[in-house]
Amino acid sequence: MSVYESTSMWKEVDSYFSQVLIAEDDALITARESARLHHLPPHEVAANQGAFLGLLTRAVGARRVLEIGTLAGYSTIWLARAVGDNGHVTTLEVEPQYAAIAQENLRRAGVSQVVDLRVGPALNSLATLVRKGVEPFDLVFIDADKPNNPGYLEAALALTRRGSLIIGDNVVRDGEVADAASQDDRVQGVRTFLAMLGSDPRLDATALQTVGSKGWDGFAIAVVRTP
Ligand code: DHB
Ligand code: MG
Repeated sequence: MSVYESTSMWKEVDSYFSQVLIAEDDALITARESARLHHLPPHEVAANQGAFLGLLTRAVGARRVLEIGTLAGYSTIWLARAVGDNGHVTTLEVEPQYAAIAQENLRRAGVSQVVDLRVGPALNSLATLVRKGVEPFDLVFIDADKPNNPGYLEAALALTRRGSLIIGDNVVRDGEVADAASQDDRVQGVRTFLAMLGSDPRLDATALQTVGSKGWDGFAIAVVRTP
């Protein structure tokens, strides 16, 4: 069976998992729909992936989460709900129009008070956080423009502590990640990011492929080993 023949089955299974496992409330559904309504790139995580991020956040007891790439705030809602009322999510978005849509979605989800949405190029916002010496984050989710992934990882390392998790979205890209000669600068950004994860003595890392309603893609996950 080719990748293309199997895609509809991947979607069916995701849909089944969502029915049986995932309680997407009106705020999450509206967040996803708002992204379509306003023609944002269809890059928010699937419901079961959002739930996965929430579970990881709870599993490590994360109180401080950093998200790079907000879009309409769909994954932000999952993360904010997982940190709880005493937790905090800082999320970074370059597009003011997307940020405005996200703010409304976060308000509707009842999580505005735990989310700090910072508008501007994420590398600038990250440099500001590093300069201010903010308390380390317990979990970082990197899900923005892929060519900047290496810079995002460097910043994430400066903003975490021993035991923090760093998660990267979209590390498979329909398998193109395995093509060293790819001309796509997003693929090359992900390849450099993975090479850094694999070779940096400060990190233990792996990556997993996923299939589903978002096609064939995957997550990288790393634990910070050093203080
Ligand atoms: C792309 C980015 C994403 O975050 C995603 O989930 C899917 C695709 C992209 O830049 O192509
Ligand atoms: Mg993504």
